[in-house]
Amino acid sequence: MKVQVKNNVYWLGKVDWELQSFHGDDYSINNGSSQNAYLILEEKKILVDTVWSPHSSEFLENLKKEVDLNELDAIIVQHGEVDHSGALPAIMAERPDLPIYCTANGVKSLTGQFHHPEWDYRVVKTGDSLDVGNGKSLVFVEMPMLHWPDSMASYLTGDNILFSNDAFGQHFGVGELFNDRADQCILFEEAIKYYANILTPFSALAKRKLQEIINMNLTIDIIAPSHGVIWRDNPLQIVEKYVQWSDNYQEDQITIVYDTMWDGTKKLAHKLAQDITDLAPDTVVKVFSVAHTDKNDIMTEVFKSRAIAVGSPTMGNDILSSVAGWLYFLKELKMKNKKAAVFGCYGWSGESNKVLREKLTEAGFAVVEPEAKVNWMPTEEDMLGMRNIAEALV
Ligand code: FEO
Repeated sequence: MKVQVKNNVYWLGKVDWELQSFHGDDYSINNGSSQNAYLILEEKKILVDTVWSPHSSEFLENLKKEVDLNELDAIIVQHGEVDHSGALPAIMAERPDLPIYCTANGVKSLTGQFHHPEWDYRVVKTGDSLDVGNGKSLVFVEMPMLHWPDSMASYLTGDNILFSNDAFGQHFGVGELFNDRADQCILFEEAIKYYANILTPFSALAKRKLQEIINMNLTIDIIAPSHGVIWRDNPLQIVEKYVQWSDNYQEDQITIVYDTMWDGTKKLAHKLAQDITDLAPDTVVKVFSVAHTDKNDIMTEVFKSRAIAVGSPTMGNDILSSVAGWLYFLKELKMKNKKAAVFGCYGWSGESNKVLREKLTEAGFAVVEPEAKVNWMPTEEDMLGMRNIAEALV
């Protein structure tokens, strides 16, 4: 059912309580999610985004309770990914003449996915606007690579609402909808997880786009993203967070990520954690087994860190596949301004440290010289040697 956001603007989305993953199974979801669509009922009736394809029928049914489809004037498709455009085919089946406002890249993604080049696309660029009546209009802002080439935001004048699509969103199911009513700890954990795992590769673009939006001097009373809470209480707090996160973000944290075969590399990981704590008691230290911890949650901790250490024993002249897969994901995220160290045990040939160095360097980390390359089980002397890595990272 619709929920009033402000005046004649309503939320009409889907709180997806039981969703457990996103982007296939590439992003873990621990606290539900939502797909937020919005209905503007001014002189013109405008729908902003829809919901994910499996909820299409339910969404259409709810939409029809609020507005006669024949009276709908336009749909704004801010982003073609199917979690937001999924109900578009069902709507267009009943209103094939409905104008679709989107970016030029939006046309490409929508026709590529739904194969309807005949739909009435109205291509918009930054600064273009759509009069919605009663003295208000929607002003469009292209948001390329935040996080798809087709992404855009829309600003409703008069009500001062920024419909930001994926930007400023979180995978967080909140029945109460608004940020001031949500659990604040979960909200900010989910917001930084979303940024770290989805937006980090585009931080340089995000930084420039945020500055562009700030320079527009818009009065923003509400930020209404397409996932998670609607920011109505101090909405600029999430913009301020994005300004920090997009600027080579780091906290005073060092994260150790490893996998192990017979616990030798695990012993090194735990000793390194202790040595870092001894040397820098104020630094937050966290240790994760990459085989047993959710990869997205580890990535969020790496995003917060100023340095990491990665450990793997040698396996088949290489590293363990769990660590290899995780490093591949790390490289995708293009994190910057972080140090790294490597460590691991071996029995025969001992290539793991060399491989870890290469992979971490490719991922953009400055790998420090000291390392731990331990033949068989660590001796007391090997364990004492972990202090050299700790000193280099601290
Ligand atoms: Fe929420 Fe990029 O879709």
